[in-house]
Amino acid sequence: MTHTALTSEQNALYAALDWLAGQGVDCLLTDQPIDRTVLKIDRPALAAPVNGERTPRPEALPKQAAFLGASQAKAEAIKLAAAANSLEELKAAIESFEGLAIKKTANSTVFSDGNPKAHIMLVGEAPGAEEDLQGKPFVGESGQLLDKIIAAIGISRASERPEQGIYIANILNWRPPGNRTPSPEEVEVSLPFIERHIQLAAPKILILCGGVSAKALLGRNEGVSRLRKTWHEYRPLTPEITASSAIQALATYHPSYLLRTPAQKKLVWSDMLEIAQKIAFNAKNM
Ligand code: URA
Repeated sequence: MTHTALTSEQNALYAALDWLAGQGVDCLLTDQPIDRTVLKIDRPALAAPVNGERTPRPEALPKQAAFLGASQAKAEAIKLAAAANSLEELKAAIESFEGLAIKKTANSTVFSDGNPKAHIMLVGEAPGAEEDLQGKPFVGESGQLLDKIIAAIGISRASERPEQGIYIANILNWRPPGNRTPSPEEVEVSLPFIERHIQLAAPKILILCGGVSAKALLGRNEGVSRLRKTWHEYRPLTPEITASSAIQALATYHPSYLLRTPAQKKLVWSDMLEIAQKIAFNAKNM
């Protein structure tokens, strides 16, 4: 980027911004810049080794990190999720959870959107930048495409009628910085929350939107291409979250993939027709 009539200092600042944007930095974490070159690092004083031991003794280790380790975080998530007896309680429990570092960099906890009584629930991956700002899932570009896709089979998140509505949530409740793919640990720690979320919403049909959602909720390693086209019997994988019956689940491509690969829209259209047929079948037989 070149800027005429700018001072050399301003040009240098623009160049630095360009460089940061190129590295994927797209949000500010603090209001003031931090000059890390002059930060004093508080190193713990290591206790003197005893009998030639190589590792520092426990009292010499740094204090526990502000965020929990993955297994501790998962145990806490299970405890909170299992204790929540309504969607409101679950939302409050997730908002109080301090087990994932992505919460620290996010602007909001993104819980759900749409009609919680809807017969269909869709589970995506994680909030993006727009979702993080508005505090609702699927409100950015991919969300707008999703609204068009479901409208094609007469479904809308604004519908108050359970047969025509949809309830939407994500595997993760906070935006991973820079919209990176969630790490396996973040998915693992978040699983009890989304599984309890599904159980409390009790949909008749579950749409697993994208590979992260399909793999996490079906406990499978294959990608969406392999997992779509067949109905799966979804049951919670978290043993503490028990279900009396299975939910019919269908995996499909994520709308953000369709934005990059529009030729695949026809495959999603066939998935939507499959869902429309299932809705019609359920209406006749229930
Ligand atoms: N992608 C997702 O998977 N979820 C959102 O909420 C937004 C984009």
